[in-house]
Amino acid sequence: MRKILCLWFVIVFITIAQNKSINQRVDSVLQLMTLEEKIGQMNQYNDDWKATGPVTVDNDKASQVRNGQLGSLLNCLGTERTRSWQTIAMQSRLKIPLLFGQDVIHGYKTTFPIPLAEACSWDLEAIELSARIAATEASAGGIHWTFAPMVDIARDPRWGRVMEGAGEDPYLGSMIATARVRGFQGKTLGAVNSVMACAKHFAAYGAAIGGRDYNSVDMSDRLLWEVYLPPFKAAVDAGIATFMNSFNDINGVPATGNSYLQRDILKGAWKFEGFVVSDWGSIGEMINHGNVKNGYEAALSAVTAGSDMDMESRNYKNHLTQLVTAKKVPMTLIDDAVRRILRKKFELGLFDDPFKYCNAEREQQELNNPDHANSAREIAAKSIVLLKNDNHLLPLSKKTKTIAFIGPLVMPLKQNKGFWDIELPGVDSNFIVSQWEGVKNKIGAGSTLLYAKGCEIEGNNKEGFPEAVKTAAKADVVILSIGERRDMSGEAKSRSDISIPGVQEELLQALLATGKPVIVLMNAGRPLVFNYTADNAPAILYTWWLGSEAGNAIADVLFGDYTPSAKLPITFPRSIGQIPIYYSHFNTGRPAHNDNNHNYNSSYTDLSIYPKYEFGYGLSYTTFQYSNLHLSKKTMARNDTIEVSVTIANTGTYAGEEIVQLYLRDKVGSIVRPVKELKDFKKIKLLPGESNTIQFIIDDEKLSFYNQQLHWGAEPGDFDIMIGASSEDIRFQESFELIQ
Ligand code: GLC
Repeated sequence: MRKILCLWFVIVFITIAQNKSINQRVDSVLQLMTLEEKIGQMNQYNDDWKATGPVTVDNDKASQVRNGQLGSLLNCLGTERTRSWQTIAMQSRLKIPLLFGQDVIHGYKTTFPIPLAEACSWDLEAIELSARIAATEASAGGIHWTFAPMVDIARDPRWGRVMEGAGEDPYLGSMIATARVRGFQGKTLGAVNSVMACAKHFAAYGAAIGGRDYNSVDMSDRLLWEVYLPPFKAAVDAGIATFMNSFNDINGVPATGNSYLQRDILKGAWKFEGFVVSDWGSIGEMINHGNVKNGYEAALSAVTAGSDMDMESRNYKNHLTQLVTAKKVPMTLIDDAVRRILRKKFELGLFDDPFKYCNAEREQQELNNPDHANSAREIAAKSIVLLKNDNHLLPLSKKTKTIAFIGPLVMPLKQNKGFWDIELPGVDSNFIVSQWEGVKNKIGAGSTLLYAKGCEIEGNNKEGFPEAVKTAAKADVVILSIGERRDMSGEAKSRSDISIPGVQEELLQALLATGKPVIVLMNAGRPLVFNYTADNAPAILYTWWLGSEAGNAIADVLFGDYTPSAKLPITFPRSIGQIPIYYSHFNTGRPAHNDNNHNYNSSYTDLSIYPKYEFGYGLSYTTFQYSNLHLSKKTMARNDTIEVSVTIANTGTYAGEEIVQLYLRDKVGSIVRPVKELKDFKKIKLLPGESNTIQFIIDDEKLSFYNQQLHWGAEPGDFDIMIGASSEDIRFQESFELIQ
């Protein structure tokens, strides 16, 4: 009896201890910390393995960790290495565990399509699953925290990091941000297969003037709120654990030292309880900006503005003690930042078990899970956009007798990974399926696959043309794989000329001259300008960078095992001269309604006003008919709703998926409103001959916008509703009125 009672007391005690609120546990640690240990938590270094920015070299990281002067490491991979660092952290006085952060942007060991490609799927479940698998693998590799999703709206394809986000639209971008946060963080932070997510780069980094990375951003607060902030707010609403600020100045104030962004909006209006990490050395970079004189002022500005953790710049480590001693920085600011960081370490369970994510057996298991590759293949196929398919050239028959597969991107493996892939130390990443291998795996025994490189990605050497032409002449059909190098997009990869590099389009011209049908695969991390190809190739698939399963996914689409369903999340300009160009533009006082009239209207005298391919565009192997648009009412009172229904039928011969888009236009507003804005979409799967009626709900929220005083709300008046297969291919248009 006595033993049972003792056991009972022990169980009760443990339960009470565990249920003690995390905040109380945070405070109990905080009270024990010295100022130097507090500042240590606000300090993050790059590990010595690989850098993703300009590094500061110091050789005493281990002693700094042992002295509690470091809260986190980034670019530290694998259970062995993270365990070794965590072991050192457990030698510190208070044994506060380290956080390990990593850019797990589109996969850890299994590489998924680049985020902009995934966004083309408009498939929120698939995008969430992709992030879920990335989190499962990363957490198995000792990682607690990914610096993703990148949710920057981008409307300038010259900017190299357009590849990392979800395109130009706030609504689609917000939905995808939510899906990615859910995928990375799972249902509860602290599950061993979840990682903290990080919304970046706060804010408006994608609006860099000239599309030049790190360049200034200048915009009205109203535009910031209407277009660039919504995906960040969606991430907060999804419970995201962390934010990362951005390198750019916005309206003359560097984001890192921008109290309006980080205190008024993020931690004030949005009540964000996580923490903000600087982007790399952005705290120190405020000196370059000319916003502060030195590191001392940089640290003062950044911590005052709400930057909680200093990645790599060492200005918090070098100056915060003096700033607190000089009473320039109140201890309450330090305590707030440290509480935010410690709270996440408690939520992850690291105080209960610092080695929770250092399980070598789980690492082996999850990094070799075949299900992950299958999922990567599925979402890669969903990310491929069919831009053109004259005379139904696609899909190809698997019995096609002779196929010539030509171009500089047929054989490469790693090119398919795109930017921000992860090269795991000691892990052979050659498990990628090349485009050649994918097609080879797909065709029948009776088919012959010929190869010629033709030319390099860059340079003007055409010596390979004759061989390529000869190879094409022997084939029934030619597949040409061309585009950028994978590192022509990504961080610090802005291009002033976004045409296809080198002589690749001339190679296409030479192949077309053979009279053989040519299918072009376009590989890139951004919208390219490729008018010759677009106008002359009979079939074009935009294959982006599709990751580990690229070859299999491309073959699935080429041979009809998957009917392409993707639609563009970003406008494709027909010329750099059109940039910035996006679908949700204002009407102006002199709209040019077509390309034939330049008489005193908003048009170019030398170029079309229309893009090459519009937002929401993408073809299928089948066809879809839209019918029976119905609105439940034509006038809507405030806080009321209108039910919208439309019937979609698959009128073709292939099973396929259609992304039905709902756009609204507020005809008159105190702030002029865009000619259309995406406000909802549904992706439906239909067999040949099958039809389905889908519903949308229009409510106040969908009619609202930020007025001159930045108040969010809807104004009474007339609205157009448009249902389309793209932002230009509008199948139905109706009007309704919002009454007071
Ligand atoms: C880089 C990037 C940021 C990344 C960080 C850590 O400079 O701007 O997106 O998460 O540094 O690698």
